[in-house]
Amino acid sequence: MRALVTGAAGFIGSNLVDRLLADGHWVVGLDNLSTGVEANLARAERINEFYPGQFRLVRGDITAPELTGIVAGNNPDIIFHLAAQVDVRTSVSNPQFDAAKNILGTINLCEAARLAGVRRIVYAASGGSRYGAPAYLPVGEEVLPAPLSPYGVSKLAGEMYLGAYAWMYGMAPICLALANVYGPRQNPYGEAGVITIFGKAMINGGPTIIYGDGTAARDYVFVGDVVDAFAQAGQAPADVTGTFNIGTGQQTTVAEIHRVVSELLGRTSQPRHSAARTGEVRAIALHAAKAESELGWKPGVDLVDGVRQTIQWLRAVLDPQPGPPAQLPAADSEQIGV
Ligand SMILES: NC(=O)c1ccc[n+]([C@@H]2O[C@H](COP(=O)([O-])OP(=O)(O)OC[C@H]3O[C@@H](n4cnc5c(N)ncnc54)[C@H](O)[C@@H]3O)[C@@H](O)[C@H]2O)c1
Repeated sequence: MRALVTGAAGFIGSNLVDRLLADGHWVVGLDNLSTGVEANLARAERINEFYPGQFRLVRGDITAPELTGIVAGNNPDIIFHLAAQVDVRTSVSNPQFDAAKNILGTINLCEAARLAGVRRIVYAASGGSRYGAPAYLPVGEEVLPAPLSPYGVSKLAGEMYLGAYAWMYGMAPICLALANVYGPRQNPYGEAGVITIFGKAMINGGPTIIYGDGTAARDYVFVGDVVDAFAQAGQAPADVTGTFNIGTGQQTTVAEIHRVVSELLGRTSQPRHSAARTGEVRAIALHAAKAESELGWKPGVDLVDGVRQTIQWLRAVLDPQPGPPAQLPAADSEQIGV
């Protein structure tokens, strides 16, 4: 299979590229390197040295007119669309910019795919923002979307454009409504990704800040599981389309995340608290039974194990000569409420 991955140099995109290459597919990545970095694609570039042409990165923007030629010229069987403006706070301070990238960029991609005859687009939708503050958790896909931030709206608009293109032109999009994804390559210098942000601060001996009182809860899903969901969506029969929640169904508070990361790193310092941020929801967890029945997907990595893998990666990146790994004092998934 020939795959085009937008956002290939990013956190989830680069993990997906590695997975597609390992499965023997040909991959073209597209990225404007606004938040992604080429270092994330080092493994893909190495594979390309052994199997020339199996991977290629094209630097470009999903909003550019050249996208049509890039898609047609690479003749993909499938497009995985992950490129986006991903920062909720940027979407609040600059909603026009967020919409220009996420809505107009996705429309540009839909048009390029239509012109190139690509039917299957697998889209990284936002399960964490699409339902707003639902009446019950975990929330299923049957609940009406009600995003509470410009980012949530722009990501949902992408889903809706894909739905319209399915209706108008017979395209077969699959929208994976992702919960809070965490894992290796999540940017510890960014605004999202509380696990790597806490981990980096603790490894560097700096303070950690919790916005709000620490009871805000999220559904944390490991990037390896998310990449499995993309790979399985890529193999799904052509008549499988629509939106699928990708999450664990479990709520974990920020305070619990702080405790797990502290224990794994053997740190005892307490977090500082700051005001909760505009546009963020208090609690979310996704019911993913539809993904299990129609895509054969379910999460496999529990939170402590996933955080441990993330911390190992962070240590290697931030602290090339770490001391002996800290023991996790009898922590298991029950202790952190997952
Ligand atoms: N990380 C999460 O928890 C999460 C949750 C739900 C949905 N998502 C979605 O998953 C996707 C990937 O997110 P991520 O966490 O890997 O973020 P990321 O910032 O690491 O990756 C986004 C990538 O897209 C690239 N990009 C941004 N704008 C672009 C543009 N206009 N043209 C070309 N490339 C562009 C960036 O350089 C980056 O490499 C996004 O669509 C995001 O909305 C992420």
